Amino acid sequence: MTTAVYPGSFDPITYGHLDLIERSTAIVDKLIIGVLRNQAKTPLFSIEERVRMIRKMTEQYQNVEVRAFDGLLVDFAHACDAHVIVRGLRAVTDFEYELQMTQTNRAMAPDIDTIFLTTNLKYSYVSSSMVKEIAGYDGDISAFVPAEIEALVKAKMQEIRR
Ligand code: PNS
Repeated sequence: MTTAVYPGSFDPITYGHLDLIERSTAIVDKLIIGVLRNQAKTPLFSIEERVRMIRKMTEQYQNVEVRAFDGLLVDFAHACDAHVIVRGLRAVTDFEYELQMTQTNRAMAPDIDTIFLTTNLKYSYVSSSMVKEIAGYDGDISAFVPAEIEALVKAKMQEIRR
């Protein structure tokens, strides 16, 4: 049985992430979405909120689990008994960072391999940071995130402005 970890900040989850999740579920037996808790920058959504959102958005998949994690990704992967990490590549600009991260992870844990899925062209420019920036200026984010997430982002932005 192949268990893979799909790690990220998911602040918030976008259509790009969801596309990758859907395609990964068809490739591996079990996909564990690892939501990073200890970010350098303060996230818009708390770890509990992000985990809740992702669970809701992926409830149709029998082979998906969502877990929060702290510390090193390779330690999390080992704890999940996963030997595969899934990452998305949107454009060539992602490559350098992803390569460095993958090589570092391989140096720390040679038993874990990272596989890359190229993002659906439709979502190749979508990022959580852009979604937050647009929403911060009251822009329309409906093309980038599902309606439920859009409502949560809007509510969070209003909460911040208050
Ligand atoms: O969605 P993101 O923010 O690009 O995801 C980045 C993530 C969570 C995959 C990365 O920051 C990570 O693995 N963090 C855990 C700490 C770690 O293992 N660092 C060493 C790898 S370079």
